[in-house]
Amino acid sequence: MTRRKIAAGNWKMHGTSADLAELGKLIEETKGAAAEVLVCPPATLIARFAEQARGSHVAIGGQDCHPEAKGAHTGDIAAEMLADAGATHVIVGHSERRADHHEPDALIRAKAEAAWRAGLLAIVCVGETEAERDAGRAREIVALQLQGSVPDRAEAESLVVAYEPVWAIGTGRTPTTDDIAAMHAFIRDELKTRFGPPMAEATRVLYGGSVKPGNAEEIFAVTDVDGGLVGGASLKATDFSQIVAAAG
Ligand code: PGA
Repeated sequence: MTRRKIAAGNWKMHGTSADLAELGKLIEETKGAAAEVLVCPPATLIARFAEQARGSHVAIGGQDCHPEAKGAHTGDIAAEMLADAGATHVIVGHSERRADHHEPDALIRAKAEAAWRAGLLAIVCVGETEAERDAGRAREIVALQLQGSVPDRAEAESLVVAYEPVWAIGTGRTPTTDDIAAMHAFIRDELKTRFGPPMAEATRVLYGGSVKPGNAEEIFAVTDVDGGLVGGASLKATDFSQIVAAAG
């Protein structure tokens, strides 16, 4: 089974209209890339990024969505609104949302369902904290997050799982390639048990946490790693295009 790799950039709370040029540069520099390229800017930029990327190989995604399609939820954005703005993907359950907004697994599951209702591909994030890893609980935590956050009707075409150890995000630290391989094999096994071998074999599982031009090739070569979810290093086209090339 060949799974096409994905290089996904998560801009987090970075970017204004001045950064449209950076997207233009990325589109130029990654022309002909073998991997799928995705940029998830802040919500304020989605429509303009989607407009600029229209007709190119670069897809645009949201960083979060509300489970409901509309309603009295000040400040929230529905998956349907992301789709209307031109997004094709949405990240749900990022550890920063799990921590900053106390998002539980059941809410993340509802957000993934909302993404599918709106026709978006859902990138569901999981990953242990440093304390959980030190306590030998990394697999247990990731298994619980997968069980709780991934809806029962998940299919490989509309789901991507991102394994992001919380202690590796924005820290410059990464697990060893052996540790990444072990966790990705574990995640695929969990998917196999719950959804069966064909789904598990076809579902992309990304690694995230301090992916940089200097380590991307090594990480993406690990068995069961189908690309990366990249924060800091996705903000500059020159860095991110090297990561896209490493995923090719
Ligand atoms: P980082 O962030 O690449 O800056 O570590 C990754 C993420 O949070 O998705």
